[in-house]
Formats: sequence, structure tokens, C-alpha cells
Amino acid sequence: MPDPEVPTPFGVYVHVPFCASRCGYCDFNTYTADELADSGASPDGWLEAVRRELAGAAAVVGDRRVDTVFVGGGTPSLIGAQRLGAVLDAVRAEFGLAEGAEVTTESNPESTSPEFFAGLVDAGYTRVSLGMQSAAPHVLAVLDRRHTPGRAVAAAREARAAGIGHVNLDLIYATPGETDDDLRASLDAVLSAEVDHVSAYSLIVEDGTALARRVRRGELPAPDDDVAAARYEILDDTLSEAGLRWYEVSNWARDDAAACRHNLGYWLDGDWWGAGPGAHSHLAGRRWWNVKHPARYAAMLAAGEAPEAGHEVLGPEERATERVMLRLRLATGLPLDLLDAPGRAAAGRAAAEGLLDGAALETGRAVLTRRGRLLADRVVTDLLTAVPV
Ligand SMILES: C[S@@+](CC[C@H](N)C(=O)[O-])C[C@H]1O[C@@H](n2cnc3c(N)ncnc32)[C@H](O)[C@@H]1O
Ligand code: SF4
Repeated sequence: MPDPEVPTPFGVYVHVPFCASRCGYCDFNTYTADELADSGASPDGWLEAVRRELAGAAAVVGDRRVDTVFVGGGTPSLIGAQRLGAVLDAVRAEFGLAEGAEVTTESNPESTSPEFFAGLVDAGYTRVSLGMQSAAPHVLAVLDRRHTPGRAVAAAREARAAGIGHVNLDLIYATPGETDDDLRASLDAVLSAEVDHVSAYSLIVEDGTALARRVRRGELPAPDDDVAAARYEILDDTLSEAGLRWYEVSNWARDDAAACRHNLGYWLDGDWWGAGPGAHSHLAGRRWWNVKHPARYAAMLAAGEAPEAGHEVLGPEERATERVMLRLRLATGLPLDLLDAPGRAAAGRAAAEGLLDGAALETGRAVLTRRGRLLADRVVTDLLTAVPV
């Protein structure tokens, strides 16, 4: 149970719904300039609307400092450091930032430069997360990425040289056509950039994407689960040998200070306000999400309406289920008292199978072993659906 003496961390997420082009695998709420032509939506209209939403948010939330800010997308770098600085100014003006707040923005290497990173540092950003995906040109081509293989590493170096304290590179693995050696080369490139954080996701074929259409037409094979598991082992071995430790199944950090505090807030049941088109929010068990289209989002705020599209209130059982799902994916693990008696018995069986760490279980926590990380979804299901025997 959270300690009542420790205040729940509070984060602000801001969604930037613009991209230069659509990567074939991506189903995020984002739009190219062509897709927005004639809609009236623009980066400046978006900024004005976000300012209005944050002002309304502060009135609802009351006096609460912001511990973490995460400007994600879409491609935040596309709107430039000046607008990103204006977003952070609005958060400061409406809420105030806590001492030592973590302030992250995502960026596509293609739309970054030394001047861009210098502008971010001046504005108060402390962390940058760059989409790299792969260092292999033929893998980037399958993913419809426009940047050259070297650009992400160069951008990470530029960010560090500009004084951004924490830099992440995102990788995608098990893309059709990727080999073990391609992944090893991507990891060498990541390590040469000397970043302190890596996120790596197995390629997901999302419905409705260009990638899904290509797989359906037989132009590309679907990603293979066994290949993905073998690649995860290469990732984990290489990163841990280089001193980056896993702290969530898909995230590795050089030390505790390098872990993404904003994402830990999501995983540890924190509160956050999500501003921007399609953004999700969570305050004390109430969840809601905004309308997705940037033009509609801006029009609602201009009319003085909240841009909420829907909401749900989680009951105690749903919240307990979510806690198990999210905490089990963390290296700090799941306190066993969050499980019922059949769940605790299932945890004992999972440890006997080598999926949970036996020593950690003795101390009252369910912590995935490496084999357990490969089968994390199955372990979650086993712990949640166990019945008395
Ligand atoms: C908002 S993007 C990062 C910033 C920027 N838009 C870019 O792509 O460079 C978030 C990350 O989600 C991951 N991602 C998106 N769709 C994915 C998919 N279908 N499968 C696996 N990873 C995905 C990618 O690694 C991507 O870098
Ligand atoms: S992966 Fe990033 S750049 Fe590509 S479409 Fe998605 S949000 Fe845009």
C-alpha cells in the first residue's frame, strides 16, 4: 500500500499530435501536414489550446507542484524548441515545478540539431528521448523511417553536449528482415552514443497501419515470437554487460537517477494530467481521455469546453488488477500482499518454474527472472486468475 505520509507524485503529460511523415508501424494519435490541410489545425493553434487546457487543469487540481513533465507525441521536436519552451512556461505558470523536477521531451532525430537541444536546455528540459529504432538501413526502410542510421547517435551526442542530463534511445527489435547481427550493430551504435537509458520494444503489428496491410498481403512476414525472445536476450545481455540495468521489462537505465520518473509514475499508480489531443489522465482512480483530432480539440477549448471524450472510474478490484499488471513488470517487483492467497500460491509455483526470483519471493516480493520477463504476460495471468486449490 502507498505510504499515506508520502505524497503521490504528480506528472503532466502534453501530447504533440504532429509528425513529418507516418512510420508504417505506428498507430499513435498523430497527423502529417497533408492530413491536417483544410482542418484549421496548426502548431500555434495547438499551443494556444494546450495553454487553455492547462489553465483549466490547475483550477481542478488545485495547489499541487509538478514532479515530472513529459512532452510526447507525435514528434515534439517538429514544433521547435521555442514552442516546447512555451509549453513548459505554461506548466510553471499554472502549477509550478517541484524542486528537481524531471522534464522530458520526445524527439525524432530527423528534426533535431545542436541549436534545438541548446534551446531545450535554456527552457529547462532535463531529459530527451529519441526514436532510433535500428542502425540497419534495411530495417529502417521496412519501418519507413526517414533518418539515416547514424543520425540518432549523432543527435544523442548533440543532446549530451548541449547539457541535457539524461538521454534515451528507443529501439524496435524483431522487425521482419532484421538479423541477430543487425540488432548487435544497433546496440553497438546505442552504446557508442553513451546514453544513460534505452527503451526497446518488440515490433507490434497494429491494426490499420501500413505495416499491417503489408503483412496481410504477404509482402512481409509477421514478427516471430521466438525470434523476439532470442533478440530480447541479446539486448539484455549486451546492455547489462555495458552497465545498463533493466528496471522495467522494456527499459534499461545506467542507475536509479537515469530511470524515467514520469513513466514510473504511470507504473506505480501515480496521478497525472494529460493535456493535448487524445491525451489520457488519471487522478485518484478517475481516468479520462481527450478528443483525438487537433482541430476539434482546439475548437472545444476555444469555446470554453473541457476537451474530454470519455471517462471511467476504476473500482477497487480493477485498480488492484492494474497494480499487479504494472508492478510485476518492474525490477522492484510486486509486494506479495497485493495478491490474494491463491495468487501467492501461484507465485510460489512460478518461482519453482524459474519465472520468479526465489530469493526475492522469500522477502515478500514477486520479481521476474529473465525467463519470467520473456513470459511476463503469462505470469500476470497466472497470478491474477489462480483459484484456491
Ligand atoms: C512517439 S515515438 C518517439 C519519438 C518520435 N516520434 C520518433 O518516432 O522518433 C515513440 C516510440 O514508440 C515506439 N513504437 C511506436 N509504435 C510501435 C510499434 N508498433 N511497435 C513497437 N514500438 C513502437 C517507437 O520505438 C517510437 O520511438
Ligand atoms: S513512430 Fe514517431 S515519427 Fe513515426 S509516426 Fe509514430 S510518432 Fe511519428
